[in-house]
Amino acid sequence: MNYNPLLPEVMKNPFPYYTELRNEAPVAWIEPLQGWALSRYADVDFALRNPQIFSSSGFTGQTLGELNPVPDVPWILDMNPPDHTRLRKLANKGFLPRIIRGLEPRVQEITRQLIASLRSQTEGDLVAKLSGPLPTTVIAEMLGVETERVDDFKRWSDDMVLGTSRPTDEAVRDQVRNSGAALRDYFARLIERRRTDPGEDVITALVRAEEERDMLSASEILALAILLLLAGNETTTNLIGNAVRNLLGHPAELAKVRADRALVPSLVEEVLRYDSPVQVIPRVTAREVELEGGKIPAGAIVFLLLGSANRDERKFPEPDRFDVTRNPQDHVAFGYGIHYCLGAPLARLEARIALESLLFDCPPFTCTREPLPPIASIIVRGVQTLPLRFAA
Ligand code: HEM
Repeated sequence: MNYNPLLPEVMKNPFPYYTELRNEAPVAWIEPLQGWALSRYADVDFALRNPQIFSSSGFTGQTLGELNPVPDVPWILDMNPPDHTRLRKLANKGFLPRIIRGLEPRVQEITRQLIASLRSQTEGDLVAKLSGPLPTTVIAEMLGVETERVDDFKRWSDDMVLGTSRPTDEAVRDQVRNSGAALRDYFARLIERRRTDPGEDVITALVRAEEERDMLSASEILALAILLLLAGNETTTNLIGNAVRNLLGHPAELAKVRADRALVPSLVEEVLRYDSPVQVIPRVTAREVELEGGKIPAGAIVFLLLGSANRDERKFPEPDRFDVTRNPQDHVAFGYGIHYCLGAPLARLEARIALESLLFDCPPFTCTREPLPPIASIIVRGVQTLPLRFAA
């Protein structure tokens, strides 16, 4: 068995390949990626804890290539200390726990409206009607996008996500370029406005953020705002979709959650572990490094297989069993250490509310399409569509 994540059958089900890598080649050279892959929990964890050896790499910009709307500004994901430390400290101000807790009633309200539309016909697509629009609408409001621009904003952000899957079609590339430019211009104006006309939003918090005489530049705020879209939308969409898919595939687990609403947070953690929405993150070695499974030279690209670490039998008993009562606390689905996902509390909140509403405020549902088309990506794991039919 050869692990080539670019092959459709591997994207569809990478888990048997991961098991083989963990057992036979935990530090493996992957020819099609021209980089190394770490598949065991212990090695992935070591890499995440040692950013001075496993440096963040400039991949976010590269993934977007010429479609990157802010090519002149580094993305927070690509930065290393001390620049990263400064930007992250300021960015945190927009995502303080009390800000996220305060969002709960509004997330509930948005979810209620989206579910009403999902159920307005006998059959509805979870991705198009709920798991897709929920994170986009929430982040639009958090950033302070005016209500009348929310639809434009959603279109621009959908197009930016399209950009990350490297469209080859020239018409699509044009569309992505135009949307990137529109998003950039819109945010540039919004940022300027918030300097003189502050609101209760993340952009205002970022504009105000001032630490040790350090201010965020307009272009840093711009890059951060755009990253919040790219990093937070499709990932959260897939967390909700993967939860629904796995519940439908494991009826006994679905019954356990239906019998006990308090299990929903544990369900969310188990989906993050079992079917991680982000499967892979890249790093570059700053020096030669010796791991349990082998040596990696300096300057090498290394892929941390989060989806494999989360299924490592050395860490999680019976890792291939989907168990809604497991409540795993130390999975690496949100990374770990200095780049730990800024949006993790928000993603957890949105997923919990969406799943509670689906499971407890709606009649039982089934999925009307098999097999479901996977998203063609080596990074994110999810399905393009998930049509549901609700009982009368
Ligand atoms: C289920 C949903 C999500 C998953 C699985 C996820 C996953 C991740 C992972 C694995 C990282 C670490 C990347 C690295 O170390 O290279 C990360 C970082 C990040 N995430 Fe998320 N994410 C999710 C949702 C969100 C949301 C909702 C937001 C914001 C609205 C967000 C914003 C970010 C940002 C800004 C970073 C970079 C942090 C830094 O570099 O310091 N994410 N995310």
